[in-house]
Amino acid sequence: MSRITVNLPQNSYNIAIAPGNLSQLGTQMQKLNLGNKVLVVSNPEIFDYYGDICVKSLEQAGFEVFSHLIPAGESYKHLGSIQQIYDTALTHRIERSSTLVALGGGVIGDMTGFASATWLRGVNFVQVPTSLLAMVDASVGGKTGVNHPQGKNLIGAFYQPKLVLIDPNVLKTLPVREFRAGMAEVIKYGIIWDKDLFEQLTAADDLSHLETITPELLETIITRSCQAKADVVSQDEKESGLRAILNYGHTIGHAVESLTNYEQLVHGEAVAIGMVAAGKIALSMGLWKTEEARLQDNLITKTGLPTVIPPQVSIEDILETIKSDKKVKAGKVRFILPTQIGKVFISDRVTPEIITQAMISDR
Ligand code: GLY
Repeated sequence: MSRITVNLPQNSYNIAIAPGNLSQLGTQMQKLNLGNKVLVVSNPEIFDYYGDICVKSLEQAGFEVFSHLIPAGESYKHLGSIQQIYDTALTHRIERSSTLVALGGGVIGDMTGFASATWLRGVNFVQVPTSLLAMVDASVGGKTGVNHPQGKNLIGAFYQPKLVLIDPNVLKTLPVREFRAGMAEVIKYGIIWDKDLFEQLTAADDLSHLETITPELLETIITRSCQAKADVVSQDEKESGLRAILNYGHTIGHAVESLTNYEQLVHGEAVAIGMVAAGKIALSMGLWKTEEARLQDNLITKTGLPTVIPPQVSIEDILETIKSDKKVKAGKVRFILPTQIGKVFISDRVTPEIITQAMISDR
């Protein structure tokens, strides 16, 4: 059992990580004084697996529990789904002292968080992430929101949960592709923040399947990743500086994701490609050692993640897409570049020529 605190000026909270934790949801929430009514938001598949155990645990702890299900998938991450959560909240008279629980992956967490931030100007919110990506990234740090037809996550709010409850056992039902996608973010923490985590990952024989990872390593992976995210968010909750390092691999990653219409690659796969690309850029600028870049790329390959930009995506299109990225500041593209394993910095000196030069080996 690990407990990590996300220390914030206001509204600090804990991330509780332990196998079997789902059955402790009720007692953990009881300690936090989170009202009497709980609305669990989930998708049908996840609720089929884990709804009963959560609802039972909450009821045993004395909560009155309701549920709201949204079909799975990014295509439902829009304001219409939020309106439906509000309708259910209204039907069950969810009050300001009540709690919305997100039981699911990143899409459910982002939407439930946004509904929590806005219903009655803010109700309690608890994250129970069920994908590796949601455990190590989306559920921690308070970014909530939905997509606009013109772009991903354009509508949202920073709204911190009262608790993040993680049960690694639920990963047993996660499809392998989603597991690997979550591992991309784990590798990211190794590069940007936690050399020791990187070394532990490097020492493992095979990271491509949950079954090849020992329970001890799995707990390390989740705990150290959450700790890295908590450290960064504690220092820069609203992304005015440091938090941008969490976007390592995301500049080219997002471009590739968008240029393949969000159909060919899942987010973590695009981030993996983006990390390899950022490594090449750092190398070509003389900022990073070849040996460390090789270690990064080997780790990504060992996890079964892609490393090269799909052939149909041109370098010119990547450059165009990067220019319109929401992370562009005052017209300058900002890249997160590694200098050592465990250390990155934010650079606005990456020119289109440098990107082209670094990418040419993928062609
Ligand atoms: N996923 C990046 C962040 O939370 O800032």
